Amino acid sequence: MSPATQRPTLFVLLGAAGDLARRLVVPALFALHRSRMLPPEFRLVGLDRAPLDAQALAEQLREGCVRFGRSATPSNGAWEAFTRGLAYQYLDLSDPDAYRSLPAFLEESAQGLPATVQQVFYLATPAFLFAPATAGLGSAGLVKDRALSRLVVEKPIGSDLASFHEIDGVLRSWLDESQIFRMDHYLVDAWTRYPAVDFPNYPPGSWGPESAEDLISRDGCSWLAPSLPEPQP
Ligand SMILES: NC(=O)c1ccc[n+]([C@@H]2O[C@H](COP(=O)([O-])OP(=O)(O)OC[C@H]3O[C@@H](n4cnc5c(N)ncnc54)[C@H](OP(=O)(O)O)[C@@H]3O)[C@@H](O)[C@H]2O)c1
Repeated sequence: MSPATQRPTLFVLLGAAGDLARRLVVPALFALHRSRMLPPEFRLVGLDRAPLDAQALAEQLREGCVRFGRSATPSNGAWEAFTRGLAYQYLDLSDPDAYRSLPAFLEESAQGLPATVQQVFYLATPAFLFAPATAGLGSAGLVKDRALSRLVVEKPIGSDLASFHEIDGVLRSWLDESQIFRMDHYLVDAWTRYPAVDFPNYPPGSWGPESAEDLISRDGCSWLAPSLPEPQP
């Protein structure tokens, strides 16, 4: 099987109309698209409870890229290429029955892509939806393929250790650990901006993101206690 970064991919963004999607996830994906680092066959699908259609969602996400993205304002051509085939479905993510229609919708959204398309479910939703959304995807049979389905959740996962274990237990009951990705948008950002402050043993400028990647691998550290206060808007 080809490497995951090259496989045809259906990227299913749950909470597609929300702040995280607009502010961080889609600008990051678009930056990858511009750098030709997305799989050649890549399609975005949005799920949310906002009354939108695909075109309105695309416009909303483009505004997010203009406002929050770090790369240049999307040209019409680049944006059209990135959002070609974009699909949107209204879905109440807290309703277990709502997920029944999802396999057919995703199959339709993936038309034209090879049958071996990998599906990435990115939960850009409040954490209280992580467990019900995972159970909904699981009971619809959407994460049973260990090689071709992935689930991404954003930290914080819950509000304390007990709620983390509760949510994480649901994730693990439906997926293999190799399928679960727990994303922290700010951790590496903080490390690469403030290495000397966070790691006084390393002189400023003595290491960059590549060696940071080595350090944050499971072989490079035994535990982490990051703390990064976020300014309120
Ligand atoms: N925003 C950031 O910059 C940021 C950064 C790092 C981590 N995070 C984490 O990422 C997660 C998402 O953050 P967020 O700020 O994007 O949250 P959000 O805007 O409150 O929610 C994301 C989207 O999910 C939708 N949603 C909520 N309940 C739903 C339901 N039952 N069915 C369908 N859609 C539903 C929301 O719709 P409504 O607007 O109608 O509620 C919204 O469009 C949170 O866990 C947060 O802690 C956020």
